Amino acid sequence: MTAWVIGNWKQNPATLAEAKTLATELSTIAASADLTHCQLMVIPSLVHISVVADKLHGSALTVGAQDISAYSATTGAYTGDCSALQVKNAGATWVLVGHSERRQYHGEGQTTLQQKLTLALESDLGAIFCIGETEEQYERGQTLSVIEDQLQVIEQVVANSKVASQAMTERLIVAYEPVWAIGTGKVPTSEEVSATHHHIKQVLAGIDQSLCAVKVLYGGSVNADNADQFAAAKDVDGALVGGASLKAESFLTIVNAFAQP
Ligand code: PGA
Repeated sequence: MTAWVIGNWKQNPATLAEAKTLATELSTIAASADLTHCQLMVIPSLVHISVVADKLHGSALTVGAQDISAYSATTGAYTGDCSALQVKNAGATWVLVGHSERRQYHGEGQTTLQQKLTLALESDLGAIFCIGETEEQYERGQTLSVIEDQLQVIEQVVANSKVASQAMTERLIVAYEPVWAIGTGKVPTSEEVSATHHHIKQVLAGIDQSLCAVKVLYGGSVNADNADQFAAAKDVDGALVGGASLKAESFLTIVNAFAQP
C-alpha cells in the first residue's frame, strides 16, 4: 500500500522567505527518505503556492491548494477568489475541499462543497475532501451519521458531474478529521479511527464500487509522537497534518512512520 502524508500549512508561515525555507528543508529531507511506500504533499497558503511549487519542482513533494472558487473554474468577477485554473497555473495539482475551518469560518455547506468538488475534478485537480464530527456530535455517538451526511456531497458529484467515478478513484482522497481533534492535542483511539474509516470505505463503495479504492486519511493532532499509532491502524491510508507539518523535522518523523511497508 502507498500511504499519503499531507502537510496543511493553513495561514502559515508569515512570510514568503519562511515558506521558501520550509520548502527547501522539506525537499532535502524528502531526498533522503525512502518513499517507496509513501507519497507526500504540502498545501501552502494561496499566495505562496507558486514559489513553493518552484522550490519543490523535481522533488518527491506534490503541491496542493487550500481552496478554490465555487463559482468559476477559470476567470470572472469573484473578488477574493482563486479558481481551479489559477491554482493549477501556480503549480498546485490538488486542492482541499470541506476542511472544517472552511465549514466553520466561511459557512461552507453541502451546496458550495459540491460546486468546489465538481470544479476541482472537472479541472483535473485532485481533491482531498475533509469530513468529521464536532465534539458534541462525538459525545452523542453521532459520528457515523454525520460523516454519512457529509459524504452525500461525493454522491451528488458522482451523480451530476462529467467526471467518471473511475477517474475519481485516483483523484479523490477523503480525510477524516474530527473537529475536536484539530489543533487541540486530543485524538480518538486508533480503534475508533479504524472503525470510522471502515465505515467511510463502505459508504464510498455504496456510492460506486470503484470508489472503494479511494484513500482515507486521518487528520487531527497527528504529531511525531503519535504518528506510529495511526500508521499501524487498520484502514488508515495516511495522514493530513496541520501544526506538525510546519517543522521539517516533525514532518519527517511522521513521513517515516507512514513510509513503512
Ligand atoms: P492539526 O490540523 O494537525 O494541527 O490538528 C490538522 C488539519 O486541520 O488538517
